[in-house]
Amino acid sequence: MQISLIAAVSSMPSSSWPPQKQDGNYVIGKNNQLVWRLPADMKYFREITEGHHVLMGRKNFLSIPQKFRPLVNRTNIIATHNKDFLKSPDQSCKVVHSIEEGISFSKQNNETELFIIGGGEIYSQTINLATKLYITWVHSAFGGDTFFPEINFLLWKEIFRQDFQVDEKHNFAYSFCVYEKIL
Ligand SMILES: NC(=O)c1ccc[n+]([C@@H]2O[C@H](COP(=O)([O-])OP(=O)(O)OC[C@H]3O[C@@H](n4cnc5c(N)ncnc54)[C@H](OP(=O)(O)O)[C@@H]3O)[C@@H](O)[C@H]2O)c1
Repeated sequence: MQISLIAAVSSMPSSSWPPQKQDGNYVIGKNNQLVWRLPADMKYFREITEGHHVLMGRKNFLSIPQKFRPLVNRTNIIATHNKDFLKSPDQSCKVVHSIEEGISFSKQNNETELFIIGGGEIYSQTINLATKLYITWVHSAFGGDTFFPEINFLLWKEIFRQDFQVDEKHNFAYSFCVYEKIL
C-alpha cells in the first residue's frame, strides 16, 4: 500500500524554487482553519482522494464544517488519543489511537493508496512513511500557526506540475505539484 500526503502549502512568490522553510512559507492553517479559499484545490483534493481511505488528526476533522464531514465517498480515519471520541461513528468513520493503527486498518481493507490529509501534527509524523506528496503550492505570504514539515528536495522528485494564475474565483496563484520519493 502506498502512503501519500496531500496538502495545500504556502510559498511566497519571491522564494527560491523549490520552496525552503522561511517566514511566509509552509503555512497550512491558522486558528484551526485554512487561510485561503481555492475552489479548484477543493475539487482537486476531492478528485484525488475519492474512493480511498483518508487519515487525519482530530483537530483537522473538527475543522471541517459539520455538513461536509465525514468526507463523502472516502473512509475517514480520525486519529485521537481520546478513547471516548465519536463513540458511535458512522460507517464511513474509523477512530484510531495511533498512526500505525490507521495504516493497519487501511491495509486490512485492501487499500492501495492511503491519503494522509493533515493537519500539521499528522503530516510531521507521516512524511517519512510516505512515497508520494501531492502539494498545492499557494503563491502568497501567509501568517499562520500550523505548518507542513519542510520537504527535503534531495529525496523527492517532481513528477507533475500545473500552474494557475489569479482569476475571479481564486485570489492567489497556485500550482498543483506531485512528488515521488527517490528510493
Ligand atoms: N492546508 C492544508 O492542506 C491543510 C490540511 C489539513 C489541515 N489543515 C489545517 O491544519 C490545522 C490542524 O492541524 P493541527 O496540527 O493543529 O492538528 P491535527 O494534526 O489535525 O490534529 C492533531 C490531533 O491529532 C491527534 N493525534 C496526533 N498525533 C496522534 C497520534 N500519533 N495518535 C493518535 N492521535 C494523534 C491528537 O488528537 P487528541 O488531542 O484528540 O488526542 C492531536 O491533538 C488546521 O488549521 C487545519 O485547517 C490544513
